[in-house]
Amino acid sequence: MSVARAPMSCSECGYQASQWRGRCPQCGAWDSFVKEGGLRAAGGAVVGLPTAAPPVALASIEAAAHDRLATGMGEFDRVLGGGLVRGSVVLLAGEPGAGKSTLCLQAAAGLEAKGLRVLLVCGEESVDQVAARARRLGGIRTTQAFSGTRIDEVLSHAEGFDVVVVDSIQTMSDPDLTGEPGSVTQVRGCASALARHARDSSVALLLVGHVTKDGAIAGPRVLEHLVDAVLTFEGDRGQSLRTLRSAKNRFGGTAELGVFEMKARGLVEVADASRLFLADRHVGVPGSAVGCLLEGRRAVALEIQSLVAPNDGPHPRRVAHGLERERLEVLAAVLQQRAHIDLSKSDVFVRVAGGFRADEPAVDLALALALASSVTGAPVPPDLVAIGEVGLAGDVRAVPGIGTRLGECARLGFRRAVVGRSASVPDGMKVHAVAELGDALGLLVRA
Ligand code: TYD
Ligand code: MG
Repeated sequence: MSVARAPMSCSECGYQASQWRGRCPQCGAWDSFVKEGGLRAAGGAVVGLPTAAPPVALASIEAAAHDRLATGMGEFDRVLGGGLVRGSVVLLAGEPGAGKSTLCLQAAAGLEAKGLRVLLVCGEESVDQVAARARRLGGIRTTQAFSGTRIDEVLSHAEGFDVVVVDSIQTMSDPDLTGEPGSVTQVRGCASALARHARDSSVALLLVGHVTKDGAIAGPRVLEHLVDAVLTFEGDRGQSLRTLRSAKNRFGGTAELGVFEMKARGLVEVADASRLFLADRHVGVPGSAVGCLLEGRRAVALEIQSLVAPNDGPHPRRVAHGLERERLEVLAAVLQQRAHIDLSKSDVFVRVAGGFRADEPAVDLALALALASSVTGAPVPPDLVAIGEVGLAGDVRAVPGIGTRLGECARLGFRRAVVGRSASVPDGMKVHAVAELGDALGLLVRA
């Protein structure tokens, strides 16, 4: 097997080139090219490539029934696709403070409760610190911890475990490779060595990775190609809500969402997200509307709040929390042009209650109703939910999974729904199927 490896790569995005470049053609970063230095593992094998085996007939290979190692945390297991898989690598990515280490410790407790042997490789915290946290969270008895960052030491201790957690991959280093811990070469080299160990010894490997503010995993996105699943753990520091999503999953879907709350004694799973988001809803107040998202197989109802305040200046503000600002700007223009709701002399603030993100077009209609309700002072009826995409012509469109969404809203006690023209309506709910935004606005409660 002859493999020509590129000698230089971009330290930002991992783009490989045969020679130095002043500017990376992939991510545009300047002066980011560094010598690759170490794609060869200590044994001389090329990292990341499987050892060659003769061709086989695909039809002769039995469908792999993956040996799932469930963590016992339902929300985590669902996003994983049923649990960790032996011989596979999962990257758990998130900003510092999101709660990745906490999630790993709680997962370790669930795994060991099933008799599985778990090793925590602590590159960031001392064993004492991790032990103190484990005591506080409870449930840890047999899980072992090892504090170290040298990949050769880590590998030598990783024998005989069912699950190995490496927290974090950015702290690992291979003395045979160039660069500081956290650099592209080190992160990729160490992750490759760990991944090879996982595959060779059927260990389930969980790598913790820090993401930078712009969402890149440690600057380089190189790890994403190396692992079987990428999960992102997100949440506002000021809020207790944490969400777990999968950006890539070789052993499961990527649409599932896990919801947790960070409490004084660790992460608590939230099985009924809609109730959490609607718990503090003020009904009958102008500016509040309820929409419904589809997250994997689950529908999640949530409240959209808006506040409109006069501003005679040339640049009224448009502030969105939990929604894309661009979506707000488009809807404000559509309301103005198609429904004669003037927002041009107003500051507009909108937020998704509870700290959740609502990036689906299906929340357009709820957002439009919330805005119109703020401007007119007419509340949205408390038993009405709005589900639909709003087009530039002020048209309201049906969205996928309407039956699942309406079913969730009916469960929560909503009796009426305004939706784009669509079918499949659960019993006990009155559905207003509208084609135009103006028809939906007619449902606001006028004084
Ligand atoms: P941590 O798991 O250390 O985050 P990460 O590994 O992603 O950097 O925890 C993040 C925050 O969670 C930390 O600032 C303190 C808080 N926290 C709680 O509120 N309750 C708890 O029980 C624990 C363990 C942490
Ligand atoms: Mg941590």
